[in-house]
Amino acid sequence: MRNWILILVSCLVTVIGAHAAVTGTGEIVLQEARFHLGDAPAGWSEPGFDDSSWQTMAIPEKWHGEGMYAQYRIRFQVPKGFVKKAPYRKIAIFDLAFIDDCDEAFLNGKPIGKSGRMPSDGGLPQSAWDKHRIYKVDARQLKEGENLLTVLVWNRRTRGGVYGGPFVIRMAQLEDLVSMTCSDDADATDCLITVSSDVRIRARVSIDGKEKRVCLRPRKPFKREIAYDGSAPAQVAVSVRDKRTGQSIHKDFAPKYCLTPSAPNEPRYNSPSVLGVRPGSPVYFRLPFSGLRPMLFKASGLPEGLALDGDSGVVSGSVEKAGEYTIEFEASNKAGTAKGTLLLKVGDTIALTPPMGWNSWNCWGLDISEEKVFASARALIESGLADYGYNYVNIDDAWQGSSRSDDGSLLPNDNIPDIVAIGDFLHQNGLRLGIYSSPGDLTCGGYLGSLGYEKMDADMWNSWGVDYLKYDLCGYRSILDTLPSVGKEEHKKPYLLMNGYLKSQPRDICYSLCQYGLQEVWTWGASAGANLWRTTGDITDTWESVLRIGFTLQRELWPYAGPGHWNDPDMLVVGKVGWGEGLRDSRLTADEQYSHVSLWALLAAPLIIGGDLSAVDKFTLNLLCNNEIIAIDQDPMGSQARCLLEKDSVQVWGRPLSEGSYAAGIFNMGDGTLDVNVKDILSESGYAEIGPLRDVWRQQDCPETVSIPSHGVLMVRF
Ligand code: GAL
Repeated sequence: MRNWILILVSCLVTVIGAHAAVTGTGEIVLQEARFHLGDAPAGWSEPGFDDSSWQTMAIPEKWHGEGMYAQYRIRFQVPKGFVKKAPYRKIAIFDLAFIDDCDEAFLNGKPIGKSGRMPSDGGLPQSAWDKHRIYKVDARQLKEGENLLTVLVWNRRTRGGVYGGPFVIRMAQLEDLVSMTCSDDADATDCLITVSSDVRIRARVSIDGKEKRVCLRPRKPFKREIAYDGSAPAQVAVSVRDKRTGQSIHKDFAPKYCLTPSAPNEPRYNSPSVLGVRPGSPVYFRLPFSGLRPMLFKASGLPEGLALDGDSGVVSGSVEKAGEYTIEFEASNKAGTAKGTLLLKVGDTIALTPPMGWNSWNCWGLDISEEKVFASARALIESGLADYGYNYVNIDDAWQGSSRSDDGSLLPNDNIPDIVAIGDFLHQNGLRLGIYSSPGDLTCGGYLGSLGYEKMDADMWNSWGVDYLKYDLCGYRSILDTLPSVGKEEHKKPYLLMNGYLKSQPRDICYSLCQYGLQEVWTWGASAGANLWRTTGDITDTWESVLRIGFTLQRELWPYAGPGHWNDPDMLVVGKVGWGEGLRDSRLTADEQYSHVSLWALLAAPLIIGGDLSAVDKFTLNLLCNNEIIAIDQDPMGSQARCLLEKDSVQVWGRPLSEGSYAAGIFNMGDGTLDVNVKDILSESGYAEIGPLRDVWRQQDCPETVSIPSHGVLMVRF
């Protein structure tokens, strides 16, 4: 609808030459503002302020400049009857599209909405660049005739301002006023449906086929619990009809369900089966045995220099002599005993399987702290995730102090003062510590980068016990901008420089390039010393994002991944995410999350969890702790899947595995359920002589025909 409104409006605008117009549907569209870049002049948002010297700015259009404030002033006319004739007269919607990075909006001088945290608010700035600004405003604030909308914007770096559409003002409809949610994170067997409303509405609410007359009131939501089978796809239909206006809304919820069978009580060795370390580097390896605790561990075949703590299952020490060592581990608990084999390769290559662990960015954004990182580190162990091979705890942006010391060293800021303590805790538990920086002067979050201090930073990180570096281009872009021509070599240069300093450390530092796939990084990342490289921009927790980043942009990249060097389609957007702004459950449905994790496993992608682990729920744990899915990701052959078939709404991605078998994902990209004959579709995808099929999520034999829910997947091994 937005598109045809835009067309209509642009016609209107050309005809009457104004910058605000009312469309046929009664929406007021604002496409032009008086604009001022810099700190706000006194009284700037008052109706009487003189803005005649301000420039004119189109909406949407961005400006260039760093760390800047800007102000927008827009006068617009509210036609007679705009409020009075609306079906719901109490609330007007101000849709301010998207704004880089933060904003505060005022109507006729009074605040109506705010997103993000600007420097002037105190504390750490917090961007809200990807939040759709929908401000609900008391309609009594709108006057018939002339009104004034003013918006203060703060932009962190480079291009700032409004994007994604003009400003639109309209009266609320039922869908704006009533919200329906289904919360199911505690236990995947019943979900709580909540229907709330911003205004009083006499409604008929229908949930799962049962209708009820309800009077919805602000702050008095209507709730109903629905039980469902927590181990199979379910659907709960909810609709609300307003008797008075005749408007109705409908939503189908697909509550979360758990596919991974519970882990046995007996010990079970999960992944990885191969580990690479360099001669003399400290080894931190926590045995990935799941099962009841306490557990006792034994090892045979440990090379000289390594020791196993029999109570904690942590292997530590270092091995001087290059070579391959087959180590047999044994774990026992009150339910039984099991063995596991690890091939330790002491040589030049680390990250022989894709890195697994956690990173602070998708949950905490720039709002990190020592408590938050510690909480996730502890939860990695206590939730059992570490028993499945998740072992890196990576601190992303915003750990840096505001200036370097006199000797040039960059210490952490007060929010996270003791990174060494975090590292010590991780190492004692056989886990590893990651950090973040940029080859530029500043990081993406505006913190200090490593430009000019590369050696000093690498030495410092070594002394802190850092085992992983994510090195993010951001600030270095301004250096590239000054060069006459920019190609692969220019992009590679700063990464090679840091690589030299990392490799000269007496420890293994997994090197993660982050430059969003520019200059086909997959063709040169490995020769810059990288163990993994981001292949795309940032992921977010929507199906569109997973589609683009996973299903579209990874297609041609399979030749470039392998042991020691991986394509990185960014972190897992599962669990509680939010980039620092009020954590929420990932907006991906259960089936979308199964597809997300399945595709990443097929792609041999790093499995770095983006959600807050201290708040991990049953569904997310079940999703992340499927040992057979992880074994596909961690397969020692390291062969990345290709898209083998794309037909109607099906995509089949497959990869060979080291023991002569294959893994394939049959994805339903469509909106309805898809029934497939599994063998037929696999032979159409190019597989001949398909043996017995295993359903990897359910860990059981796969029937001949299977129903795959919308955006869901069937993962098979054969
Ligand atoms: C982005 C990067 C994110 C995160 C962020 C930190 O460029 O892609 O993953 O690290 O910077 O500011």
